[in-house]
Amino acid sequence: MKIGIVGLGFVGLSLSSVLASKGYDIIGIDIDEEKCKTISDGISPFFEPELENLLKNGLKKKLEISNDFSLIRNCDFIFVTVGTPQNTDGSINLSIIKKAVSIIGENLQRSKKKPIILVKSTVIPGTMKKNILPILEKKSNKKAGKDFGLISNPEFLQESTAIRDTKFPHVVVLGGYETEFMKKAKKLFIKLHPNVPIVITNHQTAEMIKYANNSFLATKISFINQLSNICQKIPGANVDDIAKTIGLDPRIGKLFLNAGPGYGGSCLPKDMKALINFANTTGVTPTLLNAVEDVNMKQLEQIISIIKQRLGNLTSKRVTILGIAFKPNTDDIRNSIAIELIKKLQKRKVIITIHDPKAIKNTKKFFGDKIKYANTIVDALSESQCVVIMTQWKQYEKLNNNQFKNMKKKFVIDCRRMLTNKQLDVDYFAIGLGKEN
Ligand code: UGA
Repeated sequence: MKIGIVGLGFVGLSLSSVLASKGYDIIGIDIDEEKCKTISDGISPFFEPELENLLKNGLKKKLEISNDFSLIRNCDFIFVTVGTPQNTDGSINLSIIKKAVSIIGENLQRSKKKPIILVKSTVIPGTMKKNILPILEKKSNKKAGKDFGLISNPEFLQESTAIRDTKFPHVVVLGGYETEFMKKAKKLFIKLHPNVPIVITNHQTAEMIKYANNSFLATKISFINQLSNICQKIPGANVDDIAKTIGLDPRIGKLFLNAGPGYGGSCLPKDMKALINFANTTGVTPTLLNAVEDVNMKQLEQIISIIKQRLGNLTSKRVTILGIAFKPNTDDIRNSIAIELIKKLQKRKVIITIHDPKAIKNTKKFFGDKIKYANTIVDALSESQCVVIMTQWKQYEKLNNNQFKNMKKKFVIDCRRMLTNKQLDVDYFAIGLGKEN
């Protein structure tokens, strides 16, 4: 049995590496030749814990990486894991996935196999039936359900735990028609994940499950962020104690209640916008989803107004930002709130110095010499008038008076409440904590 995986981003490369290291015969395909070369050398194009080891291990077994799409002709299963970015109006941009399935379709025409195509890319409800299926049938001159299977198989992995999530998903969703292909796909997943619930449903429900999942997570975050803003007005109140306690109620659950500067990353903001856009096209006004987004935007405004309150006119003021990656243990800065913060501070002519354990290289690609980059936390803080802790990197937990001593003004904004239990000789503001009078 041969498995093809088209699109070698976080999802595709994690899946290729995990399956190959288990001994499956895998062909990982990406249109980007350079990227293919890097991956073939055992180097991951992005930082993801455990990925590179697994990739190297897979390459020693039966993992082949190529930009030659004709190799999918020999595949029994083809996973589509390409990106679905957003248009400027927030709607989903399907051009990449349409192109990918077009090429898959063309190759299907010349294939003797009856493969099962599983689409992991996040797509708006209706896309599989309205776009993907017709493209595949037209380009291959074959019939879905007879000559090949087509299944929606949304992915729920998180960056920074992509390998663990790929190995141990909490659920497998298979959307499509109840054909022999579906039975075969189910068999594969039972073998891969013996004790994991498998939900079989139709395409449009599977597509919607993915948006339901991400928008619910975003809702939890905006909920706790709104509460954290209220807590800030109640002397002595602590949002983490509240989150911990409500999280013990099984109806609520403890995860995704960590108040902060708002959600970022390549998925939650994009998927929220796509769902809002889609809801509007159906005639449903997405009041709650709009509010979730609104709260998210306002978190950042709040941080800027706190900086302004303390520093006054921001022109030529020195601000340090600790953590640029959209969350710890990744070098990914796509849609990171820290990037938005930098952009807004730049407009106010602030002199910005940043530190991040992994994301400096990516940040440099974005801002070039418009901001300063520090290799150490102490360097980043030297002469600064305000430091904002944006990303919950472990190393920031160790911050102490010694590291703050060279700041010009010791004003600390802690968006992640990492330093709450420390006796610090600084002017300290933490999101979600009500200052005692
Ligand atoms: C998210 C979902 O969690 C995955 O299930 C999904 O598969 C993925 O999107 C996707 O659609 O591909 P990811 O983008 O890797 O995963 O990041 P998250 O861990 O969800 O974090 C997103 C943002 O929310 C980060 O900025 C993080 O700092 C923030 N966050 C998260 C909070 O502010 N508080 C929390 O309690 C949790």
